[in-house]
Amino acid sequence: MKFHYFLPTKLAFGFGALDEIGAEAKALGGTRALLVTDRVMVKTGIAGRVEESLKGVSCELFDEVEAEPRIEVAQAVADRVRAAGYDIVIGVGGGSSMDMAKVASGLATNPGPAKSFVGNNLFTKKPLPSIMVPTTAGTGAELTVTSMVTVDGHKQWINSSLLLPSAAVVDPELTMSMPPGVTAATGMDALCHNVEAYLSSAASPITDSAALEGIRLIVANLETAFDSGGDRKAREAMSAAALMGGIALQARMVYGHSIGYTIATRFRLPHGVSCGVPLPYMISNYAVACAPKIGRLAEAFGVDPDGDPADVGLAVGERARGIAAHLKVPTTLKEVGVAEGDLAALAEECVTMYPRPNSPLVFDAKSMAGLYRRMWEGDLRS
Ligand SMILES: [Fe+2]
Repeated sequence: MKFHYFLPTKLAFGFGALDEIGAEAKALGGTRALLVTDRVMVKTGIAGRVEESLKGVSCELFDEVEAEPRIEVAQAVADRVRAAGYDIVIGVGGGSSMDMAKVASGLATNPGPAKSFVGNNLFTKKPLPSIMVPTTAGTGAELTVTSMVTVDGHKQWINSSLLLPSAAVVDPELTMSMPPGVTAATGMDALCHNVEAYLSSAASPITDSAALEGIRLIVANLETAFDSGGDRKAREAMSAAALMGGIALQARMVYGHSIGYTIATRFRLPHGVSCGVPLPYMISNYAVACAPKIGRLAEAFGVDPDGDPADVGLAVGERARGIAAHLKVPTTLKEVGVAEGDLAALAEECVTMYPRPNSPLVFDAKSMAGLYRRMWEGDLRS
């Protein structure tokens, strides 16, 4: 066994953690902060609450982050952070806001257009210190090396271990006002991160232990958080599970997110819904390739772990499909609106644009087209 793990982010977790953000910012040398967020966070007062908690650190707002942010937004936040003497960047919101804050911290000290950083490990200078404040329980972006950007309609990534935030303040209180639809989509995203990282051939004992506990927490709490948004225990568990997903993501993911990317923009699906649709099929299709690990995955889902791996995988996939159905997340590509005639083209896009070298199952365009057809029909078998 051989693996690397690197996570330099200081973490404050729990109800009331937001009170610690001023001290964290000052400890990082922050005197003048750029708060990167979106207009919803400003309107709902959450950005204001963070600003207040930053006592003693002056704060200016960049509130132009959009869902699935385009590279132009990354450029706009870069222009803003470079134009004035900020010494710390704070990201407040879901994955999009945190991703743009991470990019801003990197582009503040590294010259060049935002587009030239799309790819892996292209930052050379140490970024500005950064603190992430998630307001959803989903992406785990507060603990990951990745910032997703949309370039010419396609999902691309800016990856660098230098983008790992200096600190993350995870206060479940900030997730309490999420409406059910957002709770469902972001919670499915967290489930996908944990499951896909667990199925990855780059998984390690560290990522596996985080992923299994993340899955266990989600299976026990996501439906409650969706049904009763005021349930503090469920919200707290979901915030922790999203963090587990961020920790697990160093194992990278399998094809679920790739499939999600091919349908997200076309069908205007929230990120967590787009990767949630393929999730049950990922579990059942990978079960034999991941046979030695499928029993522990089944246990985390509360499913009988004993038996033929293919059958166990089908039962776990069925359980995941049941959770998606409870959350009103579509479970077939047909429901999403994919036309039967487009399946082969989407499958081709999936394997060419979003390959997964760490997938224990190898797909070509033809075998992926078969999987797309089964996902269209709702057939969990591989
Ligand atoms: Fe995701």
